[in-house]
Amino acid sequence: MAGELAIQLQQLTKTYRTLRGPVEALRGLDLEVRAGEIFGYIGVNGAGKSTSIKILLGLSQATSGQAEVFGEPAGTLAARNKIGYLPEVATYHEFMSVEELLRIHARLAGVPSGKVEERCGVALESVKLEDRRRSRISELSKGLKQRFGVAQALVGDPPLLILDELTSGLDPFAQRDLRDILVGLRERKITVFFSSHYMTEVENVCDRAAIIHEGKLQVCGTIPELTQNREKVEVVLQVPPGVLDQLPGLEPISDEVGEFHRASLSRDEADGYIQKCLGLGCSVRRLSTVQHSLEDVFYQITRGPGATS
Ligand SMILES: Nc1ncnc2c1ncn2[C@@H]1O[C@H](COP(=O)(O)OP(=O)(O)OP(=O)(O)O)[C@@H](O)[C@H]1O
Ligand SMILES: [Mg+2]
Repeated sequence: MAGELAIQLQQLTKTYRTLRGPVEALRGLDLEVRAGEIFGYIGVNGAGKSTSIKILLGLSQATSGQAEVFGEPAGTLAARNKIGYLPEVATYHEFMSVEELLRIHARLAGVPSGKVEERCGVALESVKLEDRRRSRISELSKGLKQRFGVAQALVGDPPLLILDELTSGLDPFAQRDLRDILVGLRERKITVFFSSHYMTEVENVCDRAAIIHEGKLQVCGTIPELTQNREKVEVVLQVPPGVLDQLPGLEPISDEVGEFHRASLSRDEADGYIQKCLGLGCSVRRLSTVQHSLEDVFYQITRGPGATS
């Protein structure tokens, strides 16, 4: 249904009690993932990604706040039935063959026995692992194991896949194979929510992405929304004597032509600032827009304590 939410988190908090005292992993996290989108979930180590994912799955209880999956409270059977999950660290029965283990996952996911073969076939085809169905899990490379991980998440035919660090530790080819697999899932209208530390991967495959930091949502949107809203306008000015103290934020620079001043401005403040400079008798030597990649945005947000608040 258009506009339907696959995931909704509202003011989610989670405090772990540890021997070293309480650890506030989530501090009022809000997040909305729409049905059918591929959504990238980004944050530094310890930002709270896996904690929120475990709450969505009912593997961990929130301290306060709401978490829903397609409108069902997280942790209920109705919510759990809608999710296929690949954990951050997945371990398998290594001695089993791909098809044996996938059949078990299909049964665990509630696939009726008459449908198990068909569903396993579709899942293996989706992750391009049909030709390895008789291989033991122990024979698979790390990249192929992750593909198996996606197959076991898909085999119950859930509308939502949650993949925690799908491509961590994989070589660029294996990463690209998995990216292509995700793009194939978009055509089947499956919602994919995946955490990642690879910005180019998120830029390349996601419809929208969110950056969380210290247990809170910092930004959420399409990649152009996330990057263009943070574009900077850089202006280089010739400043007449005596007006510098009326123009905060100017940095002196020099080139072969002479001494100038440079200001780095947000798009919102640029027009007003430049008008003020012209009014004070400055002349503009150069005006440029500095494009930001998702990686730049990520660094700006997560650079240090308090950088985002
Ligand atoms: N079971 C636990 N007991 C105590 N503290 C925990 C537990 N699980 C996570 N934490 C703490 O909660 C915070 C968030 O951790 P979480 O694993 O959710 O982060 P993450 O974003 O998934 O990080 P990573 O990118 O390293 O996987 C961290 O400070 C972590 O040490
Ligand atoms: Mg994690």
